[in-house]
Amino acid sequence: MTNARPAPEGLTFRHPVEDDYPRIQHGLTHWWGGLGGEAGAQQRRLLVPRLFLQHFTGTSWIAEDPDDTDGWLVAFLVGFLSQDHPDEAYIHFVGVDPERKRGGVGAALYERFFAGAREAGRTRVKCITGPANRDSIAYHTRMGFTIEKGDTEVDGVPVKSDYDGEGLPRVCFVRELAP
Ligand SMILES: CC(C)(COP(=O)(O)OP(=O)(O)OC[C@H]1O[C@@H](n2cnc3c(N)ncnc32)[C@H](O)[C@@H]1OP(=O)(O)O)[C@@H](O)C(=O)NCCC(=O)NCCS
Repeated sequence: MTNARPAPEGLTFRHPVEDDYPRIQHGLTHWWGGLGGEAGAQQRRLLVPRLFLQHFTGTSWIAEDPDDTDGWLVAFLVGFLSQDHPDEAYIHFVGVDPERKRGGVGAALYERFFAGAREAGRTRVKCITGPANRDSIAYHTRMGFTIEKGDTEVDGVPVKSDYDGEGLPRVCFVRELAP
């Protein structure tokens, strides 16, 4: 399904380097539509510490527009191959500049991640999102993920309660990777 999608024109894709850290932090601050206010922005920034750009760059991706002069990114994906589950890969965070949303950029990043995971022999990709992030739920569903069984529901969506700590339920996604 997703393989048929044309890549967004004019963008370049590469693995990040440590120097991209401030640009990813900028995305985490500004691209979530103010979700959670300043506390939410701070939480997101802390969820993607520098170590991801020191130890997980080979499986992470960024998209840039060479014609943009502002120096910011168009999008990023931070993901890795599971250390503990040899058949799994995990997408930790993804963000697309709101001005570029719904243009196939998120899908282009995911397809690159899926291809790398397949090449590394992984057959399954997992990720999570908060139940309030309806865009993320719609996007992941469209990208072929299914929602894992939860122990309760939030607004009709199955969630695992207290998944990331007390009062922090999460929607858990899984997608099989066809060879
Ligand atoms: C979620 C996000 C990454 C999607 O990226 P995107 O570049 O807009 O997605 P794409 O244009 O590649 O869309 C891929 C598919 O998902 C669908 N889709 C994307 N966002 C959607 C939405 N809000 N509602 C319904 N469908 C959606 C697209 O229509 C497309 O489907 P298609 O196959 O019919 O064309 C982006 O909206 C984003 O950065 N959101 C803020 C950060 C965030 O929530 N990250 C995820 C949690 S960490």
